[in-house]
Amino acid sequence: MQIDKNIEKDGVIFMSVKEGEFAEAVDGDVTILAIESSCDETAAAVVRNGREVLSNIISSQIALHTIYGGVVPEIASRKHVEKINGCIRAALSEAGLTLDDIDAIAVTYGPGLVGALLVGVSEAKAISFATGKPLIGVHHIEGHISANFIENKDLEPPFVCLVVSGGHSHLVVVKDYGEYEIIGQTRDDAAGEAFDKVARAIGLGYPGGPKIDKAARDGNPEAFSFPQAKIPDAEYDFSFSGLKSSVLNLINQSKMQGQELNTNDVAASFQKAVVEVLVEHAIKACREYGYDKLAIAGGVASNTALRELCEKRCSEENLSFYRPSPVLCTDNAAMIGAAAYYEYKKGVRFGLDMNAVPNLPLGDRERRFHGRESVK
Ligand code: KG4
Ligand code: ZN
Repeated sequence: MQIDKNIEKDGVIFMSVKEGEFAEAVDGDVTILAIESSCDETAAAVVRNGREVLSNIISSQIALHTIYGGVVPEIASRKHVEKINGCIRAALSEAGLTLDDIDAIAVTYGPGLVGALLVGVSEAKAISFATGKPLIGVHHIEGHISANFIENKDLEPPFVCLVVSGGHSHLVVVKDYGEYEIIGQTRDDAAGEAFDKVARAIGLGYPGGPKIDKAARDGNPEAFSFPQAKIPDAEYDFSFSGLKSSVLNLINQSKMQGQELNTNDVAASFQKAVVEVLVEHAIKACREYGYDKLAIAGGVASNTALRELCEKRCSEENLSFYRPSPVLCTDNAAMIGAAAYYEYKKGVRFGLDMNAVPNLPLGDRERRFHGRESVK
């Protein structure tokens, strides 16, 4: 994936991500305009046939939220309102298309921050109403999982996917397109949340994941022994709050004793404790459920140590390992377009009564009918 950073158009500064040259459209192609606004990235993309990214525009609010040490929901919603039209215009113009060339409008309708989600949902509904084009609501985590289809053209379900983001840590069996079975999940904090909280505690600031990743490269992962993030009686579940408390205790103890902690060592030791459990559970799931493909997804999937350990363990266990480029691991709309394509092919269409669902569960059959007009 090529990344052009800091392009400015229509008052929106954004990052444009491209796969390179793409072929002329042919009859039967499905071209989807996708929108994502569930947290602090306003994003729009044009995706053809679920796997070909014609444009992928991401306007990040990270700099804005950094001064508050985390995402401020109200500010996020307001910024989405300001940026969304510019992002969509840029996505169409980078793809060299107009709304006439689009077959469907896709949007993340949950889970996420309700005010943030509503901006994308309202925008998608307005475009669908104005153009008469079909509307497809996408689950944000299905989007993260589907990011794997973009660069791995040969990847087909079934496979096991480790989804680790700021809001979710799930071990999922992807049985078919849009068919998921959750076999493990976090009992408390999400993996990304733990990265963010620990980074704040050791003074690295926000966003914590990339900062810990960078600091850990100069640290000793064996310097401190932190508890592993497992639950004794649940094979595939995770728990990150004990690990986080253990890091906080270490910081407090050192302060009381007037000792200076090596931040890089704390970052590396914490990261090791998180990554080892994530990978161990994922490999075990592949073995015990009998799948020979492991994929990773979500913001934490861009973590260097996680990618390296997955690569190593999958090669030892004879499993194929799939991961999106880092820019497709964190929030983007190309992944939403990828997931929407398979829903479109099934005939899924949402009505204009589609609403944002902040706690939308993954893999719950009931949720498939939130605001859907028809499932052919
Ligand atoms: O998927 P994402 O962009 O948004 C959500 O859906 O939550 O994930 C954001 C999370 C944040 O917690 C961030 O700190 C974490 O992903 N993250 C990382 C890295 N890059 C982002 N965590 C560890 N290492 C990274 N390199
Ligand atoms: Zn996400």
